[in-house]
Amino acid sequence: MEVREVGVVGLGTMGAGIAEVFARGGLSVTAVEADRDALARGMSILGSSLGRAVSRGKLTEDEHAQILGRVRPGSAMTSLSGADLVIEVVPEQLAVKRQVLAELDQVLRPTAIVATNTSSLSVTTIAAGSAYPGRLVGMHFFNPAPVMRLVEVVSTVLTEPAAGQAVTALARRLGKTPVQVTDRAGFVANALLLPYLNHAVRLLETGYATRDDIDLAVTAGIGLPMGPLALLDLIGLDTSLAVLQVLQREFGGTRYTPAPLLRRLADAGRTGRKSGSGFYDYPAQSPPAAGSPAGQRAEPPPPGTVTLIDPATAGARTGAAERAGPHSERAAELASLVAVAGISVTRNPVHPTDLVIVAVGPQGGVLGPATAAGRAADAVGLHVAAPGLAEIVPTPLTSARALAHAGALVARLGLPAVRSADRPGLLAGALLYPHLRDAVAMIGDGYATASDVDTVMTLGCGYPRGPVRMLAEAGVERAAEVLAAMHAGYGDPAFAPPPLLIEYVRGGLSPLAHGAR
Ligand code: CAA
Repeated sequence: MEVREVGVVGLGTMGAGIAEVFARGGLSVTAVEADRDALARGMSILGSSLGRAVSRGKLTEDEHAQILGRVRPGSAMTSLSGADLVIEVVPEQLAVKRQVLAELDQVLRPTAIVATNTSSLSVTTIAAGSAYPGRLVGMHFFNPAPVMRLVEVVSTVLTEPAAGQAVTALARRLGKTPVQVTDRAGFVANALLLPYLNHAVRLLETGYATRDDIDLAVTAGIGLPMGPLALLDLIGLDTSLAVLQVLQREFGGTRYTPAPLLRRLADAGRTGRKSGSGFYDYPAQSPPAAGSPAGQRAEPPPPGTVTLIDPATAGARTGAAERAGPHSERAAELASLVAVAGISVTRNPVHPTDLVIVAVGPQGGVLGPATAAGRAADAVGLHVAAPGLAEIVPTPLTSARALAHAGALVARLGLPAVRSADRPGLLAGALLYPHLRDAVAMIGDGYATASDVDTVMTLGCGYPRGPVRMLAEAGVERAAEVLAAMHAGYGDPAFAPPPLLIEYVRGGLSPLAHGAR
């Protein structure tokens, strides 16, 4: 069935974005909002998004007028009677969705398709309350809808195959990439994204790291387009909370238990960009851009000489033997980075230097080697996370002076810097590895293939590389080691390496070579 005329019910940020996608795709769109003010607001979101495209030279004035001309605002459901497909984008409350579906059942032709953009309700439950459950399909767009290329097409046990196929074909026609999934909480993207975002909130509220450092660790240290707290503001804290609650109900476990701070901010109406404030204030503040010196603080001049301790070899040798033996690769790289910045490096802990650097790995563990060297007050850990982030890791014994010297040192290295607690994973890794773990667990569960997971996260969330590729690049052994250290450190099974990851490690398998399961 070819879709020509479409309806969009609900013209909030997502609804307006979806109406724009349809109109840009040449479809004739009826956009319905019961409330006149909401309709005007929705049309103005659509107008300003198209206006931005004109001002960036992506659309001509003529194209702008043609696209807008394809969108007919309406306030009555009866204006949708001729539609081939209607998508509902109304608030995420089952009663509200059911009411809309009941009204659509009255006005639509029985052959019309009804799509839902729900992100937190069960498509099956929504369908089961409709007079025509076979024609109901999940069509899950990503924010901002005009930009993100993914559509998750969700079929339930009640969906007629032809309806799913029509929505898949429509998504392709709109220039999107459809990924077909079955009805499970969070589908693919949100089931992976939300626990990771929730973990970021927990790190913030427990004082593990600051807001700006958390976001910078992700953009500069992992290379994702937005930090997790900025992304929560974009998605909406209320929406995020609703998705976490449904994940928690379906899967259980700490990873889905909403962080109290997320709940409080949502309760307080600080829902993110749409309310003017969330973790950031809008439009006054903007999150730190990757590569910006936002994570760096005003520092004294860098130290002239530093002592480098290599925890990988410190336990194996002692005294002169330790100082003469080869460095691990990580410590050698750090030593040459520091030397290139014009700072001399010694390995002698007795040498009276201003700063002791422990070349800590992503598993953490600065305090032991720092104390063993008898220099705990002068010592910080330093870890360089790809693609270019310095993680400065003080311990409870690190002096303010040593911390200031470390800040000055990384400023001299020219790297964006964050401060991390001395815990397994440090900062970037503590966010990344459990996220990769969740992706492997989902593949191991048979819910999605490795290639679907990577498609979803690159096209739906703008990742430069999907989680499976990131895992392959980081190395399955390293991922398993960091996760095992997090599991041992926190005693939380949510961090335990999943069976499929252990299989990759034991079998020397690449997660990329691993096909559909
Ligand atoms: N509406 C329309 N277009 C927008 C837009 C918006 N709100 N925001 C940005 N754009 C467009 C810009 O016009 C620009 O277009 P051109 O390239 O054609 O000029 C393009 O997007 C890039 O914008 P910017 O240069 O201003 O900004 P950027 O490079 O920093 O990219 C971003 C912005 C696309 C949002 C990028 O940061 C990104 O991909 N972030 C990740 C977003 C994400 O993860 N979304 C999924 C959230 S989960 C979800 O939505 C599902 C759910 O159920 C919760």
